[in-house]
This record gives sequence, structure tokens and C-alpha cells, in this order.
Amino acid sequence: MLVHIPHVLTPEEVAHARRVLEEAAWVDGKVTAGEQAAKAKFNLQIPEDSPAAREVGSLVLRALGRNPLFNSVALPLRVLPPMFNRYDVGMKFDAHVDGAVRAIPGAGMRMRADVSTTLFLTPPEDYDGGELVIEDTYGKQVVKLPAGDMVVYPASSLHSVTEVTRGSRWSSFFWTQSMVKNDGERTLLYDLDMAIIKTRQQLPDDNRAVVALTSVYHNLLRRWAEM
Ligand code: NI
Repeated sequence: MLVHIPHVLTPEEVAHARRVLEEAAWVDGKVTAGEQAAKAKFNLQIPEDSPAAREVGSLVLRALGRNPLFNSVALPLRVLPPMFNRYDVGMKFDAHVDGAVRAIPGAGMRMRADVSTTLFLTPPEDYDGGELVIEDTYGKQVVKLPAGDMVVYPASSLHSVTEVTRGSRWSSFFWTQSMVKNDGERTLLYDLDMAIIKTRQQLPDDNRAVVALTSVYHNLLRRWAEM
């Protein structure tokens, strides 16, 4: 399941993030890639432990916390600190799958990456190319979103970023370990949650059918959630 979440950051937050990141020291993106992905990856990143990554990372995490749609889609158990990358002209990331297990910096712990997220920080009119191409069960999806919007998709999907041919594409990306690791089960819960929200807009909250559907949602989550 691939979900577009609009307006995760306000225009002011995007502008602030851009200003902080402009001052940061960018390094070759291969530093965080596995051996195979390093051969496919041509971009720049900000070191995970740099003050800029921490400051803008906290801003992104706060925005996620106030976003009910992200919580419904990802059912997050833990979110790895957001990272930041940049594709200038000639840069790209060929098809790859993100690593399944990642170390949590400074925590001496590892987590499973179930859900991948890309948060766009550059308006689409500022660059050509740089599309995120995600191969899911319905074929290839091409994603290029307004600054401040993000796309959430299964970390198991093959994906790539096409070569940037004009301008520069900046984004934040991060992984989430979900309470529900199976993408199919997560998708059912998300679809049910959205249907309940729509039904509640049309029926009073004490309607018996609404109560019954909400019970089904929680009892499925109880059955499938692991933490
Ligand atoms: Ni990736």
C-alpha cells in the first residue's frame, strides 16, 4: 500500500528546514548504504549525528506525532531518526530494496524497517527528474510531491530515484517499525479505519453499527499488533 500524506510540514517549517540544511555539511550518500546499494546510490546526505540532522529530524518527528493519517497508515511502534538527502544534477538512486534491519543510533538496539517514508522538501517545479519510482503489487508508481508532503510505502518494495536533470531535489527519509509487520494486515486496518471515519461523518457516534465496526478494528489490531 502506498499512501500520499499531504501537508505534513507547514510552508514555514519547510522553509526553516531548508535554511538549516543549507548550512549543513553534505557527504556522499554511500556512507549509509550496504555494499550492493552503494553501487546504485549517487546522492548526498547529512551525517546522522550532525546538529542539522538532529534539529530538522525533531521537527519532522513532531509533525508525525500530530498527523493522524501517518499513525493510521504506519501504526508506528518506533521511528528511526529522520535522515536527509539531496540529488543534484546527474544524481540518482537505481532500483534497490531498503535493508530490513537497522541500528537505532546511540540506543544499542536494532529495529525492523517495515515502512519507508519520503518527505519532499523541494517544490516539484524547482527540479526535473528526481521521481521516486515504487514498484508495488499494482505496478510502478511514480511519485513527485509538493514540498511538505510525504509518501509512505512498504519497505519491502523495490524503488528508485530517477536522475535529476535540472535543479536539486531535497528530501527527508526514514523507516518505521510498525506494530503490525505484515503489509496486507496493515492495509486492511487502514482501509477499515478510513471507512469508519467516513461512516462516523454520516451517523451519530452512538450508532450501534459504528460501535460494532470500531470494535472490529480494535479487536483486529489486538490480534495482529506486536510490541
Ligand atoms: Ni531506498
